[in-house]
Amino acid sequence: MTTAHVSGIEPGASFRSRLALRATVTVTAGLSLLCVATGLALSAFLDREIDAAILSIAAIQAASLADGPSGEMHFHEWDLTPEEAVSVQDLVQYAQVWDETGTSLLRSQYMTSDLPVDPESLARASAGDLVWSRQEFGGARVRTLFYPLARLGAKHSTHVLQVAAPLTQRNAIVRSAVLFFCVLTVLLAVATYMGSWWLAGSAVRPIHAVIDQAEEIGARSLDRRIQAFADTREYRRLVQVLNTMLGRLQAGFDAQRRFTADASHELRSPLTAMRGEIEVALRRDREPEEYREVLNSTLEEVARLSRTSEELLTLARSDSQTLVPAPTEVDASDRVRRIAERLEGTADARGISLVVDAPAAMYVTIDPEMLDRITWNLVANALRHAASVVSIGISMEASDLVLVVRDDGPGLRGVDPESLFERFYRSDEARTPDGSIGGTGLGLSIVRALAESHGGSARGTTRAEGGAEFTVRLSQTLGAARRA
Ligand SMILES: Nc1ncnc2c1ncn2[C@@H]1O[C@H](COP(=O)(O)OP(=O)(O)OP(=O)(O)O)[C@@H](O)[C@H]1O
Ligand SMILES: [Mg+2]
Repeated sequence: MTTAHVSGIEPGASFRSRLALRATVTVTAGLSLLCVATGLALSAFLDREIDAAILSIAAIQAASLADGPSGEMHFHEWDLTPEEAVSVQDLVQYAQVWDETGTSLLRSQYMTSDLPVDPESLARASAGDLVWSRQEFGGARVRTLFYPLARLGAKHSTHVLQVAAPLTQRNAIVRSAVLFFCVLTVLLAVATYMGSWWLAGSAVRPIHAVIDQAEEIGARSLDRRIQAFADTREYRRLVQVLNTMLGRLQAGFDAQRRFTADASHELRSPLTAMRGEIEVALRRDREPEEYREVLNSTLEEVARLSRTSEELLTLARSDSQTLVPAPTEVDASDRVRRIAERLEGTADARGISLVVDAPAAMYVTIDPEMLDRITWNLVANALRHAASVVSIGISMEASDLVLVVRDDGPGLRGVDPESLFERFYRSDEARTPDGSIGGTGLGLSIVRALAESHGGSARGTTRAEGGAEFTVRLSQTLGAARRA
């Protein structure tokens, strides 16, 4: 499996090792707790069992210590058969009777030396208390009980029976239980690490495949899609989201590429034409009239070029979100009427009447230059297509300024209205060789860019009674916000 190396990413622990480590730490901590708790519970249980056994042995021995007629004491170990003696040897091998001064009165036959006795415990026991303690005897730990013998009669009122049991076996049991749990913990920790390492590895395998494929997709291969094998819902969704994103990127790149190609073509053609004209004119000496003609035609081309470059700049600003309106309070009716007046000549030349339907005055806070350009583009388009009438209407809807330009031409001829707003879109007959009605195809995309910079919209339809209708909505809130 390859690991993606994207520059700028800091090296860090992999998801796999992190997950394996966390799972192992959790399991180890849990098992260690369980181990400690079990060890404590087991030793408490064994202590209770040993104490209960010592106490019952002490009680039985005490009860039968002095059953002879003389009141002399003896342990009952002599009465047991050898087999029975072996079975109780562990518990009765350490038994001894003391008087309150610490003088040994009786000792189990199994012992060759006295049990260790501490004066304080002996004193308390001879005063009538049951006293427990832990001691060292014959190189081993023993549990000891000092058992008062007062109930055997006045003769024994201060005598104490000491019974002890070795803790060797109990300690061995606890030690092996703890060892068993420790080994189990280590084994389970290793198993957990290996198991979660494997699990995490298989869980992130599709991610590596996605990363590898995504890395191979560059600006020139945006048409490729991620095909990674994603077998779970989450990964399928990731791949789907990435592919949708790639689709959008591809569409954006394609649009940008088309735009650049169209723009350079649009700028190159007039330059080539001008160059040709100038070269021909310079081939030989000419009359001043001929030079004037060439200069005039060149001037037209230059005007067209500067208009196109101006439009491209506007669209570039719109793309980079830097097309910002400069709103001021203006009379929209007045602005629209002025544009209509400037286009009156064109309308007359084509035999078209231009009607403005606007209130006497309508004050709005918008960018006046932008309103002028929008109106000009829409009316110029309408004049190209109208048969006899173009009407311009403005009104207010809520706080939006709504501009509607209608004509009685052929309408949109079944073309998707949205495609008209694409950059460099021109209908086929707009590309007529005589160029009489043709433009660059940027007019409507600029109208939309200007409207959107105002937080508004632009759309076009074919009217039921024929002819096209373009509606532009400009929001004033932007202006109000700026003034505030
Ligand atoms: N009023 C209209 N009636 C019918 N078709 C229209 C109308 N206005 C625009 N169109 C169609 O929309 C296309 C795009 O218009 P747009 O204004 O963007 O470009 P243009 O007018 O061809 O060029 P430019 O405005 O850049 O000089 C036009 O070529 C035309 O086919
Ligand atoms: Mg136009």
